[in-house]
Amino acid sequence: GDAAVAVDYKLGFTAVEKSLLDVVAVPSGYTANVVYALGDPLTSGTAAYKNDGTDTDFDNRAGDHHDGMEYFGLNAAGTARDANGSSRGLLVMNHEAITDQFLHAAGTTSGTRPASETDKEIPAHGVSIVEVAKNASGVFAYTQGSAYNRRITPLTPVTLSGPVKGNALVKTLYAPTGLTARGTINNCGTGYTPWGSFLTGEENWAGYFTRVSGDDTARGGATAKSVVSLKRYGRAAGATSRHGWETTGSADQYRRWNISQTGVSSDGSDDYRNELNTFGYIVEIDPYVKTAAIRKRTGLGRFAHESASFGKLTAGKPLAVYMGDDSQGEYMYKFVSTALWAPADANPSDRIATGDKYLDSGKLFVAKFAADGSGSWIELNISNSTIAGYATYAFADQADVLVNARLAADAVGATKMDRPEWCAVHPTTGEIYYTLTNNSNRKLEPTGSQFGLDAANPRSYQDAKIGGSLGAAGNINGHIVRMAEAGGESAATSFTWDVYLFGAEAGADLAKVNLSALTASQDFSSPDGLWFSRSSGFCFIQTDDGSYTDVTNCMMLIGKPGTVGDGTTATLNYTKADSSTVAVTTRVGAKPTVDTLRRFLVGPKDCEITGCSETPDGKTVFVNIQHPGETISKANIGDPSKFLSHWPANAGYGAGGTTTARPRSATVVITKNDGGVIGT
Ligand code: FEO
Ligand code: CA
Ligand code: CA
Ligand code: CA
Repeated sequence: GDAAVAVDYKLGFTAVEKSLLDVVAVPSGYTANVVYALGDPLTSGTAAYKNDGTDTDFDNRAGDHHDGMEYFGLNAAGTARDANGSSRGLLVMNHEAITDQFLHAAGTTSGTRPASETDKEIPAHGVSIVEVAKNASGVFAYTQGSAYNRRITPLTPVTLSGPVKGNALVKTLYAPTGLTARGTINNCGTGYTPWGSFLTGEENWAGYFTRVSGDDTARGGATAKSVVSLKRYGRAAGATSRHGWETTGSADQYRRWNISQTGVSSDGSDDYRNELNTFGYIVEIDPYVKTAAIRKRTGLGRFAHESASFGKLTAGKPLAVYMGDDSQGEYMYKFVSTALWAPADANPSDRIATGDKYLDSGKLFVAKFAADGSGSWIELNISNSTIAGYATYAFADQADVLVNARLAADAVGATKMDRPEWCAVHPTTGEIYYTLTNNSNRKLEPTGSQFGLDAANPRSYQDAKIGGSLGAAGNINGHIVRMAEAGGESAATSFTWDVYLFGAEAGADLAKVNLSALTASQDFSSPDGLWFSRSSGFCFIQTDDGSYTDVTNCMMLIGKPGTVGDGTTATLNYTKADSSTVAVTTRVGAKPTVDTLRRFLVGPKDCEITGCSETPDGKTVFVNIQHPGETISKANIGDPSKFLSHWPANAGYGAGGTTTARPRSATVVITKNDGGVIGT
């Protein structure tokens, strides 16, 4: 069943002020401790992290760029799952990316990448599972050497599951049958299934692969299906890879990052053309069982995945899984299971088999917003004549539709959004919230790669930045849209919507920019991580911002939202360069008050706040601090005075000195000093 929020809690903390300090700031009466940082050893035989660029063995250490995270309870003895275990559990988190300069003693070697560096960078990506438990003082610490601890990396064997499994599009040198694949990468948002497994979204995977110039010709020209697909997912011919791992050598784990057809030998022994089609999925992991298969759930579509959030559960009804595609002008999706929810599946003996039941068969939908506050979910199915007859790309079958979900969504005219990041479902109302983090290409009119205004993406301001000039910078602050399914049904094909909050600086124009009338204790920019506590029902909003970072580091707020339609409409009037005007009417949720939205946390310098999870009693919240001090050049790697951050060493965690240490991504554990539920 669905846990209900038992108490009508009120926000009970003093708002934290905006800050540029190199600390994690939380309200008075709360404590934040670092619990698990980049490089921390997972096995008992792994050396402590020296944090000087000489450390190796990242298969047995915490990865970099801590991101989405979920807590899974254990019983007191640590022998089995206890969904209500609040003193001992498993933290499962994504390691999205790396600040490569800090992983090497003298920074990163450019050009041909040495194996000594590549072999650290690859396993510093992926997922980690780490046991945490309260010590004798009641404070959570991670357990080095726990039998549950493990890493999943871009080289870990995984299985493909769902409609794409075995399809020609995913047959590779590694897996000629198309039944398996290798690893997961650029894992961003997460999900917690109703049966107690972990979901991780593969986001900017495309950027790790290279295609040589001229590869379009080798593949059959600009209209060849694989070329159309590769371009739609960001891999035009000539695209370079993010880290150049393919330069390291001809061994399979390096060569795979070059997906060009050009130069493939006649025996096909270096044919990696389809490697890209094995990434871009929601991946399911059983955190409790090391031997359980890891499944790429292809039925949920292939795109730049963020979180995967389940709609409110109802016995005998399908499950809905909400997902976003984080790129400018991309879409919001929903998967609806064929199987109907059986509450007995909340604690199954085989979690991956339960995932097979609910996640491998179903329908994938994409969202289309209307100006009147309604919207529709359009099914992406090969039987839809608009998809089957799409002129840009000739879909072969439903597997092709799922692998190329972006193209299918283009075909049906879904609404192009301002970068859908995380989504989350309110535990009581069942309403669905999506962060739309920002979009510098949201303009007054659509031209080329730029997007025009619509009711759900209504802001494009030249004057949103107080005291600065960002020019015609589009939607620089982002917003949070929310939706209510028709009849509250998971399988509904229509919804109503409004904008829960518009990000803005507190002093910005109330009619044009600060539409939610945010005050100094609650203003924010670029919402990204989004999560609801099942204990308090509060909404946790995390930021990944570049527009307000002259004033404040990234932050986390806690809100107590109302419901869709609790506000008003607002009409925004714009003047174009030729002096003609454009008006857009949007729907603004009830403006927050001091009782419904407050800033709870501000992070250290040059970081993003992302990932949030709680113990089932709601009295401990875990938050990830991603890439503090990530702005660093090879030229400055030897001069700690040039590091923008020394966190968490300056908070007393780990080696390196409070003014000299390299910064590290890390998890903080937050408790209320009186033992209460977080935020109350
Ligand atoms: Fe990895 Fe879109 O955040
Ligand atoms: Ca994110
Ligand atoms: Ca982001
Ligand atoms: Ca980031």
